[in-house]
Amino acid sequence: MNRHEIDRIIEQLSLDEKIGMIHGQGIFHTKGVERLGVLPLWMSDGPMGVRKELQDDNWKPKGTTDDFVSYLPSNSALACSWNPDLEKEAGHVLGEEARGRGKDVILAPGINIMRSPLCGRNFEYMSEDPYLIKKMAVPFIEGIQENDVAACVKHFAVNNQETRRLSVDAQVDERALREIYLPGFEACVKEGKSLTIMGAYNKFRGQHCCHNHYLLEEILRGEWGFDGVVISDWGGVHDTLEAAENGLDIEMSVTDCFDDYFMAEPLKEKVKSGEISESLIDEKVRNILRLMERLHMLGGDRKKGVYNTRAHQETLLECARESVVLLKNEEHCLPLDVKEHSRIGVIGENAVKLHSSGGGSAAIKALYELSPLMGLKTILGGNVQVEYAPGYSSAKEQTEEKEEWQSDSLEDRAYKTVYQENHTEEEELKRGQLRKEAVELAKNCDKVILFCGLNHEFDAEGQDKSSMKLPYGQEELIEEVLNVNENTIIVIIAGSPVDMESFADRAKAIVYSSYNGMEGGRAMAEVLLGITNPSGKLPYTMPRRLEDCPAHKIGEFPGEETVDYKEGIFVGYRFYEKEKIPVRYCFGHGLSYTEFQYDDLHIENVGEHVEVFLTVKNTGTVAGKEVVQVYVEASGEKMERPPKELKGFLKSELQPQEERKISFILNREDFSYYNEEEKCFWVPEDQYSICVGSSVQDIRLRGQVSVSPGAV
Ligand code: BGC
Repeated sequence: MNRHEIDRIIEQLSLDEKIGMIHGQGIFHTKGVERLGVLPLWMSDGPMGVRKELQDDNWKPKGTTDDFVSYLPSNSALACSWNPDLEKEAGHVLGEEARGRGKDVILAPGINIMRSPLCGRNFEYMSEDPYLIKKMAVPFIEGIQENDVAACVKHFAVNNQETRRLSVDAQVDERALREIYLPGFEACVKEGKSLTIMGAYNKFRGQHCCHNHYLLEEILRGEWGFDGVVISDWGGVHDTLEAAENGLDIEMSVTDCFDDYFMAEPLKEKVKSGEISESLIDEKVRNILRLMERLHMLGGDRKKGVYNTRAHQETLLECARESVVLLKNEEHCLPLDVKEHSRIGVIGENAVKLHSSGGGSAAIKALYELSPLMGLKTILGGNVQVEYAPGYSSAKEQTEEKEEWQSDSLEDRAYKTVYQENHTEEEELKRGQLRKEAVELAKNCDKVILFCGLNHEFDAEGQDKSSMKLPYGQEELIEEVLNVNENTIIVIIAGSPVDMESFADRAKAIVYSSYNGMEGGRAMAEVLLGITNPSGKLPYTMPRRLEDCPAHKIGEFPGEETVDYKEGIFVGYRFYEKEKIPVRYCFGHGLSYTEFQYDDLHIENVGEHVEVFLTVKNTGTVAGKEVVQVYVEASGEKMERPPKELKGFLKSELQPQEERKISFILNREDFSYYNEEEKCFWVPEDQYSICVGSSVQDIRLRGQVSVSPGAV
């Protein structure tokens, strides 16, 4: 169908019909035009799987049994794999399941920058680094869209906190906007060809993102040439005129008064009175029809999708395996050497806690979710004695009322600031008791694994955290268990960086994973038992203290009516490296059960780009996967620059003693910064160091290259 044919449909549409297509007429869909074969557009959350079916005009679940789905590792987990190929496969699973469930748009991925460890939605996002986000989000979108389903990359833009999320006004300088907060979205639009994008709730420089002229008209449509559909976040629209004029195509919200939405009756009235030109409505309808055409909704063969296949489960197991990060492993504590008839103590609620049904709009009904305890038991079998003690308890039950939080999210939860853990004296006593039982178990076991961390009481939409500390008395629990068994393996499951200071020096082995999907428990058990060699790397820094984080030390978080991103471009490791602030575990860190050696760095400037060659060798006795990382180091003499910026990475699997030559290509833009005067990316000086390593701090090889200065 060409533009002409789309125009012919538009000519036949009445104003009412067009208005029906550009706003929600149900919680998750627009209206179609049956007489012309135009279907409604069906949308669904979210990044961890296709959300359960809800009623059409309220947020109560339908309660049927046909909406159980595959549970993907959260974006924060997938990002730990540093494996773009796996991202593509995970995206394919999500897209195929969305189509299988009859959806046209899947509201994923979330790619906002993890600016502070406290953001409640960090678990839905990928990283603190724009380059890593770009490389991981683009294949995820490609994977989704192979299935005639649209991705909806969110939340555009500068949506980095939940506190006052509907009103907070983010103040970000142009350089930080261009270097940190926009590159992920730009790549998703230009390279990933995301067919839709979701406007964020917050304001940016005084105007709401869902109808922000600068973001939507000038940058997204103008500079990036986006011709897809802009969808508002649910309840993110606040003004009819701005929404009509500033590039928004579909208004969605959380209430059932669909005709009252800003882009419903109020817009119709303004068109009728001549205040708003109908051609603006036609433009939106054209974008929507173009999307439908791309999804084969206007005719032609459309893929039908499928959900809950064994193949999906296999893929998600593979993703989960590569997303486990080994942070510390002294005295070869791991992998665990488990003898027949030995006694293993598994302690901590996160050994059994299921996470798929929490977190806000990302929550799903998982077909199944293997807990780590289940993973261990299914692998170890009956001859090993595996005993469990909770050690601590979050003890909050999901209530029916809580399930419907979204219906009043505009008034209530969106304004809530932080989640406060409050516990009564009775709970305190119970905790003491649980700790005592756990310590008893630890004393009498050959091996002890302690599963701690967070859950979706903390990592959740609509709220930020008040602290980076582990809740529920877990620090005391860890200490007491280490007191009786110094070889205890600590496993942290969380969707954000957490404070590990109280135990990280003392514990001999620490493993980290984010919410790792339906097969996460099996993957964790495989890593602990050495069936899988861990290969995950941290996509975000684990700082020592909250006060060290740039958003807290230099900038503001969560601010008041406005939040000033005073730290500018110095987000995450860019800041820690510049200020030489020690961190607990740095960006890119992750160990293996084998060792890798880097050699033979050779760098060549071949004119239009720079080529970097090296060899990497597995010097150990087991096969493993290494993520080789390339950072560009600028002297920062002419222009303040982050000491190091990630500009390339590659994950390779190597057999014992196998050696491989690998190479990277760096383009001029990889050496550039955003020049606010020239309004473009710019190479400021001619000398750069290329640092190749296993993390941002573990640099193994270093070389120089010259690049001609000037515009990119
Ligand atoms: C969230 C979005 C989500 C939408 C629909 C909003 O509360 O911010 O990420 O896609 O709801 O559930």
